[in-house]
Amino acid sequence: MIICSLGHSDQLARSLAKKLKAAYSKIIINHFPDGDIYLRYNCKVKDKTVVLINSFQPEPNGALYAAVFAAETAQDLGAKKVILVAPYLGFMRQDKRFKDGEAVSSRIMAKLLDSCIDKIITFDAHLHRYKSLTDLFEIPAVNLTANSLIADYIKKKVSQPLLMGPDWESSQWARRIAGQIGAESAVLEKTRHSYRKVTVKLREKITFKNKNVVIVDDIISTGSTMVEAAKTATRLGAKSVMAIAVHGVFAEGAYKKLKKAASKIVTTNTIRHNSNKIDITALLVNELKKKF
Ligand code: R5P
Repeated sequence: MIICSLGHSDQLARSLAKKLKAAYSKIIINHFPDGDIYLRYNCKVKDKTVVLINSFQPEPNGALYAAVFAAETAQDLGAKKVILVAPYLGFMRQDKRFKDGEAVSSRIMAKLLDSCIDKIITFDAHLHRYKSLTDLFEIPAVNLTANSLIADYIKKKVSQPLLMGPDWESSQWARRIAGQIGAESAVLEKTRHSYRKVTVKLREKITFKNKNVVIVDDIISTGSTMVEAAKTATRLGAKSVMAIAVHGVFAEGAYKKLKKAASKIVTTNTIRHNSNKIDITALLVNELKKKF
């Protein structure tokens, strides 16, 4: 097995290789003067299981191209198998045609990857209209969850937490983690008015006074969801507000915006960021040790 990094997740790839006692290599990606992608393996891949590691952030379109070029090249050079580890998988939020004529990006992404890789592994994929990744991919597709790691982190760091989900989809994180650590939980009702504007409402009867509120969601993108949820918790009397997300995308200055609304921001290292406090490496090691 050889662990090959494609640029966005170098640190994670290196620590994974170390823990798996496997070789590590960084694939060279450049651009020709006209802008075309240039890709070259720095190692021999013939007869090897090539594990490509790349998060689909900070540059999702480039990450998809890089994965396809690297996988096709590995197959061409005689690799035994090609596994893509995309700790954060992009394109998943466009899971239907919301307006006439739109591309269903998640389906196109899956079709491209199906054609050149043998297995995909990701974390807490944005599954709302798809029930599982098998609705989308034809190849084996594993959706790991960071829930147990987040639960451990909260248990260690927050006394008497109240877990909050900012919208019904986030129940799969907030309610489940609350169940795992025996904490109270509340889920807000969210209305999305545009990419950048949401409003939230608390319908449940639960007291926030003097509670350490921990908001848990899968993605922080523009931060609008977390900011509104944090403001609601504060307005309802929370003692402290921590925002935890599996994937810290932090688009358009979201981190700065959220820092004003929450006392602490925590993410996993599916996307490299200063807020990474929860390490997913061990879960990946387990998955990659499985026979495939
Ligand atoms: C939506 O369904 C997701 O779970 C997140 O709440 C959403 O991606 C967050 O987006 P934003 O940070 O732009 O509000």
